[in-house]
Amino acid sequence: SQVIGLIGAMDEEIELLLSSMQTTRKTVKAGITYTEGTLHGYSVVVCKSGVGKVNAAVTTQILIDGFGVTSVIFTGVAGAVNPELNIGDIVISSTCMQHDMDVTPLGFARGIIPYQDTSEFAADSRLIQLAEQACKARGDHYLTGKVLSGDQFVASRERVSALYTEMDGACTEMEGAAVAQACHMNGVPFVILRSMSDKADGSAHVNFGEFTVEASHRSHQIVEYMLQHL
Ligand code: ADE
Repeated sequence: SQVIGLIGAMDEEIELLLSSMQTTRKTVKAGITYTEGTLHGYSVVVCKSGVGKVNAAVTTQILIDGFGVTSVIFTGVAGAVNPELNIGDIVISSTCMQHDMDVTPLGFARGIIPYQDTSEFAADSRLIQLAEQACKARGDHYLTGKVLSGDQFVASRERVSALYTEMDGACTEMEGAAVAQACHMNGVPFVILRSMSDKADGSAHVNFGEFTVEASHRSHQIVEYMLQHL
């Protein structure tokens, strides 16, 4: 039977999920609290990964090994990379890639993980479709595209424009591709949902702070919709 892992990046978001689910148990592993329970009739495990790829990868592997999740949905905020996106818009991952994986001195393109079957991890088509349906129903402006992850808060026009022109990113954040790779390595379907909190430019640090409460409500509602229509 299905167990859905829900990873949130923000406290606000986790709180909303925790207050709408029926909790059966809380467990701490590697410093992360995993809350098991049910939400809209589905078994779920809710947790907050913390920031960055290592936190995201460890959290995802524990969700899979320790809690037997059969799919993973990650929600949070991101910096917009595609210039068509505005603050408040949603990006649904088609694929995920690590923009800070850089073995270019050995002739590998930016983002390529050497000697590996793939470096661009594809999200599950059914979960993508459900997320798109949720955005349509809510009237959100959304784009399904490549999520670029790195252990860097991107906050310059030059950097963000390179992520667009060189790597065709839709948005940039700090966890998605790590969740994606861990899911891929275990054959577990996933999708990453991100609300744009900033444009990864010189104003990013200001916009980021202003937007998290609104963004967490938005992503919470999308997850609720997805579970109701799964
Ligand atoms: N999360 C939200 N905005 C971001 C940015 N500009 N860079 C990295 N992660 C982010």
